[in-house]
Amino acid sequence: MWTLTSKFILIDIASILYCFLVIVEGAKLQTFTAEYGPFNETYYDILEVIWPATISSGALQVTPDAASSDFKLSNKSARVLLNQRFKLWEEHASQPQLASFNTSFLFNVFRPFNDTAAEGLAFMIAPNLLLPPGSMGQFLGLTNTMGDTSDTANRFVAVELDTSRQCFDPDNNHVGIDVNNIKSIKTESLAPHNITIAPIGMAKFYNVWVDYDGLNMVIDVYIAEQPEITSPTPPKPGSPILSADLDLREHVNQYAYLGFSASTGNASQLNRVLMWNLTVQHFSDSGKELDKWMKIMLGAGLAVLVLVLVFAVGFGYRYRKLRTVAPSSNLVGALQRLPATPREFKFRDLKKATSRFDEKNKLGQGGFGMVYRGMLVKENMEIAVKLFSRENIKGQHDFLSELTIINRLRHKHLVKLLGWCHKKGKLLLVYEYMPNGSLDKHLFIGPNKEPLEWNLRYKIISGLALALHYLHNEYDQKVVHRDLKASNIMLDSDFNARLGDFGLARALDNGRTSYAEAEGVLGTMGYIAPECFLTGKATRQSDIYAFGAVLLEVICGQRPGTRIAGFQFLVDWVWLLHRDGKLLEVVDQRLGDNYIVEEANRLLLLGLACSHPSASERPRTQSILQMISGAMPVPYVPPFKPAFVWPAGEPMDMDSVNTVSITTSDSVSEWSPKNLSSENSAGHTDSLV
Ligand SMILES: *[C@@H]1O[C@H](CO)[C@@H](O)[C@H](O)[C@H]1NC(C)=O
Ligand SMILES: *[C@@H]1O[C@H](CO)[C@@H](O)[C@H](O)[C@H]1NC(C)=O
Repeated sequence: MWTLTSKFILIDIASILYCFLVIVEGAKLQTFTAEYGPFNETYYDILEVIWPATISSGALQVTPDAASSDFKLSNKSARVLLNQRFKLWEEHASQPQLASFNTSFLFNVFRPFNDTAAEGLAFMIAPNLLLPPGSMGQFLGLTNTMGDTSDTANRFVAVELDTSRQCFDPDNNHVGIDVNNIKSIKTESLAPHNITIAPIGMAKFYNVWVDYDGLNMVIDVYIAEQPEITSPTPPKPGSPILSADLDLREHVNQYAYLGFSASTGNASQLNRVLMWNLTVQHFSDSGKELDKWMKIMLGAGLAVLVLVLVFAVGFGYRYRKLRTVAPSSNLVGALQRLPATPREFKFRDLKKATSRFDEKNKLGQGGFGMVYRGMLVKENMEIAVKLFSRENIKGQHDFLSELTIINRLRHKHLVKLLGWCHKKGKLLLVYEYMPNGSLDKHLFIGPNKEPLEWNLRYKIISGLALALHYLHNEYDQKVVHRDLKASNIMLDSDFNARLGDFGLARALDNGRTSYAEAEGVLGTMGYIAPECFLTGKATRQSDIYAFGAVLLEVICGQRPGTRIAGFQFLVDWVWLLHRDGKLLEVVDQRLGDNYIVEEANRLLLLGLACSHPSASERPRTQSILQMISGAMPVPYVPPFKPAFVWPAGEPMDMDSVNTVSITTSDSVSEWSPKNLSSENSAGHTDSLV
């Protein structure tokens, strides 16, 4: 134990020295280094895998592979980007003004049907985490317009590995440097170098290096064959295969994303990235204004502070060890046995972090409890703490099931669970703090504030659809959220939608309580699918209904339960204007003309399709994602809202056999205790009430 503590102290001292040096030198360049791959689903946390890209078979399937998709492989475009952006250039800096980066990746382009290859894969610097709709075919997922080279609106730079020939290309097997345009500024045919990107009837693996020198403003590309996936990385060739002068400041955003994009066209191929190394020397934003002496003072102060903390922590650790900790209940035992147990927090720490659950730290009311903002000083980390209220909690089922579900779910668009705490019958869950709060706060704002921008609305809807797709399909046990609404959709610092609060997942677990009773607030009524009032059950289709309600809410800037023009619900009003051919009149007035007509039209129709009174008529997440990206047309929406018919003609949740039991209220009782531990059987359910 002592060796452990002293190790921590050593690490801390090392980091203090490092901080000190960095601060004293006033270095503005920071180095980011990472090695990625083989890829598995934990990479969804750090990569923005833009639909229909997936991670499967150990690789980034930048366009989908046969194993992970049930739709055709042709005419697709997608991207996989690191979900963190880098400041690549500085506006008013002395030398250097431009970041440098080195990246290398192992890729494989494969023709599953041994027909024509199409279209290609690219390493790219992207302006944002969005995919341009219609960027399939010749556009490699980079853009959706031919434009011309002076078109700087795209703000991308890419190294393309092109397997298809356009009129301006040298051949169907070349590497090129693309600057804001799919027509490369420079290309090199690969056949003379004995390289065939996509050979027929076999798989070849190539390692690519892309080096950007920010000082000399030169980009170099190298390629070498690697015999097998498992062979060692081949040595980097002595000279680049392609090289170009490039001033990134002119072409990419100051803050930009790095990653891959690809497309298929009439024919198809797999565009796979197997390993990826990245080193970026980028600019940091901190410490700009401080002069050198201030920095030294600050550095010294920080060092002393951290040293004091280190000793305090070391002392506390020994002190705590002297007392024995006995698990206070079965619950704690069950929690500690959870697979991949999240961290257990000390109640004391959470109390301190939230200033004793102070009113002013209250973030809102989640399902079954109050949520507080907190600050873990030791870790310098902001958290959101959900305190389950004893009155509301029906039993430890609620707590355990929320914990079990969320703990196993990992997705970029879900709020991450950091840990839990149990003390004197009080149950707490600790989540990542979402600096931008919940979506509703941004939609319904005071008259003086700026309305939520259109592109953010679009991004939020895409993120939400991805989260739902993951819950409904990708996660090994299908999960139904049950309580999708704007106040449960959180926004991170980049305005990515993060679905949170699985609180209602078992709110209805003892029987057929209606939604209205469970919620009791008419304002949330508009999210509930009509069949739920009869069955009391949530299904994937009822989640889709709620998604449709959120979608209309985001675009119209009106709550689903808002009475407009004599209609009780927003959706009925939208449907009326659709019938009258005036659909765009429903778009949030606060946006004025600042929205994209085609996108608004498409999303509104999708919102209506999801609001279909008949559960079986609502689209599934797979199609929803394709409609959002523009890869698939929205379904026909009839001019009049169809009537609600009961019983429904078709079974509702077609795959409910594979659906984890939280999707239906009946089977909950046989679920959570058994999976966790036998002693936590239903008999103890009320021990915490
Ligand atoms: C990534 O870096 C590691 C360590 O330097 C190296 O062993 C590996 O071959 C590199 N991979 C690629 C794809 O360049
Ligand atoms: C791909 O899209 C183009 C243009 O939309 C269309 O003409 C073509 O038939 C599509 N090809 C396939 C195989 O779906």
